[in-house]
Amino acid sequence: MAQDPEAESLQAHRAEHVATLSERWTQALARFDYDGAWLGAGSESFYFQDDHGPRFKPNPYLCQWLDPQFVSPEAKLLLRRDARPQLFLVQSEDYWHASAPLPEHMQAHLDIRTFPDAAAQLAACQAAVSAEETLAHVGPAVADNEAMGDLNPPALLDHLHFGRAVKTSYEIAAMRIASDVGARGHLAAAQTFHAGGSEFDVHMAYLAASQQNEAALPYGNIVAINEHASVLHYQFQERMRPDRARSLLIDAGGEYRGFASDITRTYAAAEGDHDEFVALLDAMQVHQDRLVAGVRPGRTFADLHVQMHEQLAEVLATNGLVTCSAEAAFADGLTTCFCPHGLGHLLGLQVHDVGGHLADAEGNAAPPPEQYPTLRFTRAMETNQVFTIEPGLYFIPMLLERERRNGSAINWDAVDRLMPYGGIRIEDNIRVLDDGVENLTRDAFARVADEC
Ligand code: GLY
Ligand code: MN
Ligand code: MN
Repeated sequence: MAQDPEAESLQAHRAEHVATLSERWTQALARFDYDGAWLGAGSESFYFQDDHGPRFKPNPYLCQWLDPQFVSPEAKLLLRRDARPQLFLVQSEDYWHASAPLPEHMQAHLDIRTFPDAAAQLAACQAAVSAEETLAHVGPAVADNEAMGDLNPPALLDHLHFGRAVKTSYEIAAMRIASDVGARGHLAAAQTFHAGGSEFDVHMAYLAASQQNEAALPYGNIVAINEHASVLHYQFQERMRPDRARSLLIDAGGEYRGFASDITRTYAAAEGDHDEFVALLDAMQVHQDRLVAGVRPGRTFADLHVQMHEQLAEVLATNGLVTCSAEAAFADGLTTCFCPHGLGHLLGLQVHDVGGHLADAEGNAAPPPEQYPTLRFTRAMETNQVFTIEPGLYFIPMLLERERRNGSAINWDAVDRLMPYGGIRIEDNIRVLDDGVENLTRDAFARVADEC
């Protein structure tokens, strides 16, 4: 298969990445007394009473070893302590569908065998292990689970989930490229919005510029003009631009070799007078910059999330959205109705990556604070973790009406003026360094701006 230049840049990190995964798995298997583990890709699924279904999304633990483009349904990887992994692929002869390409570049690291159908593959998998071996099976349930070993043992999974938060240099390189993919889409999306495009036009411009079709996106694009921005995961795209477009919130990512970026930008429309909203946008950018500056190894993300609410109270007070002090707005919990989601989440093979609520590799929990139940990431920040920092400020009618009924100290004239803008979110992807951060998103915007 022809290699793209970006894949070649990753190649330099691959051996070290595979060595790290081997070490992590060997250590995890020994700790939980397993001789080995199966990583199963999973199976294709179909819509009810239909012969087609959603895009096949393989088990991320398998994709950590092998780019998803090479992982066909039913693929299985056998890992044993200190042994060379064995990959069992089904490559059926099929004139309806194309087969996944063979991962020849992985032959230095894995034994790869192919089979013409799932039955032959399963027989070979069963023959590859002995009855004396104790095995775990990490992946979606299969018809014959017992033959594969213990299905998703919780303690083993917690251990693996905890470790996955810290990225290898290969993973960080892939996430830089995923960030470039997203940034290209975002630049085109902004141009299309400012040139008068609808949500649908912006979405299509994003896909074309990021060279992704919908199936390749790491998550469905959120393209929200005006009030739609107050719906946190707004999922539709209107074909018509409203008569008075005021704002655009676009939350859209890029995918590269199984790794995701997750980026949000908010803009005021080029036409019309939006000074009050633009002032709020500027304040939110300062707010986000201060939060990124607060990232450091050892500090908990839950603590940074509290800082987010303290600063949001300042934004509300300074911009005349509350009739009380910033301190009182924070103390009364008024900020939660303006930002009901968490400050961010781990990012990697999954957009909301696993392990955010684990305190340690033993599986002890780090639950979100009682007053902030939607926070997905609570644990201590560590060098080479990658996560999002995505503060928001929204005008969500459902939440504001509750405050209006309660007589909360909110400046309703200002809120009513800003309600038609929906809200603001600014989301960057951050890698923790020993002494600061790498902002994958800002760096990507700077790189791709140079391409234009
Ligand atoms: N794109 C979903 C999120 O930001 O979490
Ligand atoms: Mn996010
Ligand atoms: Mn997002």
